[in-house]
Amino acid sequence: MNILIIGQGGREHTLAWKLKQSKKVDHIYCAPGNAGTLEAAENFDIQVDDFEKIGFLVQEKNIDLTVVGPEAPLVSGIVDYFKENGLVNQGHQIFGPEKSAAIIEGSKVFAKQLMKKYNIPTAEGESFKEVNKAMEYIELNDWRSHHLVIKADGLAAGKGVIICHNIEEMREAIQKIMVDKEFGSAGEKVVIEEKLEGEEASILALTDGKTIKLLASSQDHKAIFNGDKGPNTGGMGAYAPACIITPKMEKQIYKEILLPTIQGLSSEKIFYQGCLYAGLMITQEGPKVLEFNCRFGDPETQAVLTLLQNDLVDLLMACLSGRLDKEEIKNKTGAACCVVMVSKGYPGKYEKGKEIFGLDKIKGMKNIQVFHAGTKKENGKIITSGGRVLGVTAYAHNIKEAIFKAYQGVDKIKWSGEYHRKDIGRRALKNK
Ligand SMILES: Nc1ncnc2c1ncn2[C@@H]1O[C@H](COP(=O)(O)OP(=O)(O)OP(=O)(O)O)[C@@H](O)[C@H]1O
Ligand SMILES: [Mg+2]
Repeated sequence: MNILIIGQGGREHTLAWKLKQSKKVDHIYCAPGNAGTLEAAENFDIQVDDFEKIGFLVQEKNIDLTVVGPEAPLVSGIVDYFKENGLVNQGHQIFGPEKSAAIIEGSKVFAKQLMKKYNIPTAEGESFKEVNKAMEYIELNDWRSHHLVIKADGLAAGKGVIICHNIEEMREAIQKIMVDKEFGSAGEKVVIEEKLEGEEASILALTDGKTIKLLASSQDHKAIFNGDKGPNTGGMGAYAPACIITPKMEKQIYKEILLPTIQGLSSEKIFYQGCLYAGLMITQEGPKVLEFNCRFGDPETQAVLTLLQNDLVDLLMACLSGRLDKEEIKNKTGAACCVVMVSKGYPGKYEKGKEIFGLDKIKGMKNIQVFHAGTKKENGKIITSGGRVLGVTAYAHNIKEAIFKAYQGVDKIKWSGEYHRKDIGRRALKNK
C-alpha cells in the first residue's frame, strides 16, 4: 500500500511513524511534511489546500490511502473533491469526513444546535448571528454573577474562544469577534455559553458512520504557562490515558455523547466517517461536550498512537469499508506522555531558523520518540520553522515514569529561544 499524509505538524509525523510500522505499507508520502516526517516518508512541497496538486500526486504515486491531518482541508471539502473527481473510484481512498460532516468542527453553532436537538450533554448557551441580539442576551440575562464563554462560529486556529469574567469582557468579546472581525468570517456568528467547571479530557474515536471505537483517552494542556496560566495555544503537551476517565465513564461517554452524535448526524442525513474528537469537561454532573473536532488532535495523537497496538492501516481501512465492528482496539497497558517544545513568544510573535541540538542524543533512548512539528532541514541541519517545534513523547509502565522519561528527553534538546511547560501531566500525578 502507498499512503499519503496531508499536513506538516506533530500529528502528521506521528501518523507517518505509526503507519510505517504496518507490514501492509510500501511507501509513505507527506504533503508538505516536516524534517521529522522524512524519517518515515518522502515529503512533497504541496500545501494542504491545493486539492488539484494533491489529486495529481495521488495518481502519479499510485496512492491507495490518503490520511488528512488538519481540519481546514476537511472543512473545505478535500474528501468531496476526491469523490467528485473520480479519485476514490480509481482506488485512491481518503480517510476523513466529507464537508457536510466536518461542519461539526467547522461551525460551533451547528455543533451546538445538533447537541441540543439530540440531548447531548454540553454547556447551556445560545447562538447568535446579530450583534444586537448577542449584546441583549448578555445584558438581560443575569450573567453578572456567572462567567461566560464566547466562541467564534468558524475555524479560528484555537484562538476564537474567549472566557469572560465580567460584563465588560463579554461586550469586548462580542465587539472583537462580530464587529471588529478579528477572526474574519469565522465571527459572523457566535456561541455564548456558560463556563463549565471541572477537568478537561479528550476522546479520539474512529467511526465508519455506524460503529464507533474509542482510542485511549487523553488530556491536553492548552495554556502556555505552568499551572494552566496565560493564553491558549494549539496544545503544550498531552498524556494518555487520562486518569479522570474511568472505564465506567468511557462507557457513559460512548452512550450519552458519541453514539447520539453519530446517530443524530445520520438522522440529519449526514454520514460521518473518520476520526471524531470530543473535547470534554468532566463536571460534577458528568462529562459534557466543550467542542467536537473532525480530525485527530495535536498533541493528543502523539500520546494516543504511542499506546495503540493495532495496525493503524487496518483500523482506517475498516472505517472506510464499514467493517469497524470487526476490529477491537488494543492499547498497551502503561502510559504515554508528550511534552511540546515551542519557540519563545508562541502563541504570539516568535523567531524561526534556530538550529536544534541534541536530537541525536535521543536516538538511543528506549521508548522515547521525538515527533517534529515546525521543523525543516537546511544544509543537513534541523532548524526551527514554527511556533510548536517538537513533541517529545515517552512510553512507560505508569504515568509517573512516562512523564519523567519525556522530560529526560526534553532536557537533552536545545536551541536558542526554546520554551516548554514544566508541568505536563501534573493532574495525573495529583490523581495518583
Ligand atoms: N463552556 C466552557 N467552559 C469552560 N471552558 C471552556 C468552555 N468552552 C471552551 N473552554 C476552554 O477553551 C478551550 C478552547 O475551546 P474549544 O475547545 O471550544 O475551542 P477550539 O478553539 O476549537 O479549540 P481546539 O483548538 O482544541 O479545537 C477549551 O479547551 C477550554 O479550555
Ligand atoms: Mg476545536
